[in-house]
Formats: sequence, C-alpha cells, structure tokens
Amino acid sequence: MTRSQLQETIERHFAAGSAALGDPSAMTAFLALRAALECGEVRAASPDPGSPAGWRVNAWVKQGILLGFRLGVLEEMLAGGLSFVDKGTYPVRHFSAADGVRLVPGGSAVRAGSYVARGVVCMPPMYINAGAYVDEGAMVDSHALVGSCAQIGKRVHLSAGAQIGGVLEPVNATPVIVEDDVLVGGNCGVYEGTVVRKGAVLAAGTILTRGTPVFDLVNGSILRSTEDLPLIVPENAVVVPGSRPIAKSKGHEQSREWGLSLYAPVIVKYRDGKTDLSTALEELLR
Ligand SMILES: CC(C)(COP(=O)(O)OP(=O)(O)OC[C@H]1O[C@@H](n2cnc3c(N)ncnc32)[C@H](O)[C@@H]1OP(=O)(O)O)[C@@H](O)C(=O)NCCC(=O)NCCS
Repeated sequence: MTRSQLQETIERHFAAGSAALGDPSAMTAFLALRAALECGEVRAASPDPGSPAGWRVNAWVKQGILLGFRLGVLEEMLAGGLSFVDKGTYPVRHFSAADGVRLVPGGSAVRAGSYVARGVVCMPPMYINAGAYVDEGAMVDSHALVGSCAQIGKRVHLSAGAQIGGVLEPVNATPVIVEDDVLVGGNCGVYEGTVVRKGAVLAAGTILTRGTPVFDLVNGSILRSTEDLPLIVPENAVVVPGSRPIAKSKGHEQSREWGLSLYAPVIVKYRDGKTDLSTALEELLR
C-alpha cells in the first residue's frame, strides 16, 4: 500500500465510525500505519518551515491512531509473572539489541505505534505512548512521560519526572513538540501542543500550557498562544519558573492583602556558554 492509499484508507475507516469494527481492511490499514509509525516513516506531526509554528499536523495519522483504539478489544497480556489487560491493538513493543535502544529494566513501557530511534536511552520507570516520536540520542529519564503523538527531537534530555503531555484529540491539534537539543529539567510539564524550539532550556519545575504566558525578560515581551498558534518557546531560550503579582481580578485587593501571586515562567536569558556547562550531560551514562 502506498502512503496516499494508506492515508485514504485510514480516513475512510475513521469516517465510517463504528462501521469499521469487524472490517478486516480497517485492521490491515491500522496495522500498516502502526508499523510505519514504529519505524519512523510516518509521524503525527512533521517539520514544515512553511507553516507558522514550523510543524504540520498529520491529522490522518492521529485518526489512524484513534482508529486503533476503536478497533482494539481488551485482551489479557502476560509479561513474565505479571498480567495486564489493554486494547489488543496497542501491546507493549519488543526491542532487541539490534534496535540500538537502551531500555533499562524496571517498570518502563513503550507502547506499540511509537517510534524510538537508535541511541535513545530509557531509564525506568518511564512511558512512551502511541504515536510518540523520540529521535536519536534522546534521554527519557526516570518517571518521565512522553504522551501520545508528542514529537521529541534529537539529543533532547527529558529529565526525571518530566511530563510531556499527549495530544491525540482533536485530530487537527498540534501535539507537544520538543525540538532538537532541548533540555527539559526535572519535574517540568509541557502540555497542550506547546512547541519548544531548538536548544531551549526549561529549568526544573517549569510548567507550560496553552494558557500560560511566558515573560521574556531579555526582549521585554510576553509570549502567549493565540487562537491559531500554540505557545512557542523560542530557540535557545532559558526559561525558569517565576511568579507575578495578580494584575486584575475581582479579588485584586485581597490578592495584595494575602500576598498572592500567579505562576509565571520567565525567559531569563538565551543559551550561553554557562548554560552549556550547566546542562552538559553525563556522556558516560549513555
Ligand atoms: C536553567 C539552568 C540550566 C541554569 O542555566 P544557566 O544558563 O546556568 O543559568 P544562570 O545560572 O546563568 O542563571 C541565569 C539567571 O536565572 C536564574 N536562575 C537560574 N536557574 C534558575 C532556576 N532553576 N529557577 C529560578 N531562577 C533561576 C539565576 O539566578 C540567574 O538570575 P540572576 O542573574 O538574577 O541571579 C538550571 O537552573 C536548571 O534548571 N538545570 C536543570 C536541572 C535539572 O532539572 N536537572 C535534571 C537532572 S535529572
């Protein structure tokens, strides 16, 4: 099946709703998509310099991933002495030494339909969900989550406890995108289609969502998502968690009286030699 035939078949079965259930051609198309996702041939979002966010959402791929959930029935899955129950269309992926991925034992799982490139290191426990794309040399540290359809670039470091949210629906919504050479610090959360451009650094504890304004101290500007664009963290920005006074609201006076403030991520600088030193990774661990 060519790429365009696969796309057309997926779109047709997705549009058919429950009529796709029990149709062998729907399952064949889903399995072809899943295989293509796992070897990185198709992605939920692809780089596209011509689009405003720099990435194009491949809605049909997300439709295909959703189709897999619709077609799957609960199955018992045995793993050693343990047992699990999940949709049969999304079992746990199996790796061999030839895949070149280090998957350290202990409570980690990589779901079928995700792409994990050679040289990726997965420290337990961590989870990579369906449709995610994790590129060469990335590190997914302990307690990190790579949510469905998230796109993780080359040499990205997802530190311990980092949560990269999944964006499967609506199908035309941009998934979370973390471009090459980004450091996502410990306990960060990146959600709702946020795009983190190349080389940016999110200090430990930074949380980014569609509704979070980011204050750029260097350029004296405030970055926000718009109706058409997600929140975009600029290339090489160093973002740290900060706070700001509450500017306007009914309880404005009380907020002052009670000393309240709101969480505010702040770009304190753009990456320099010191940042490179602070974020240098333990190459030996890889
Ligand atoms: C962001 C980080 C990389 C530091 O980068 P850096 O380029 O060395 O930053 P600098 O030390 O030059 O700091 C620049 C400014 O930001 C402030 N700053 C730095 N890190 C900060 C943080 N985490 N929170 C709040 N402010 C911070 C500094 O105080 C400085 O401001 P000042 O000049 O007013 O004092 C580091 O703080 C960090 O968060 N590293 C990730 C740690 C982590 O999660 N490791 C995971 C291992 S699993």
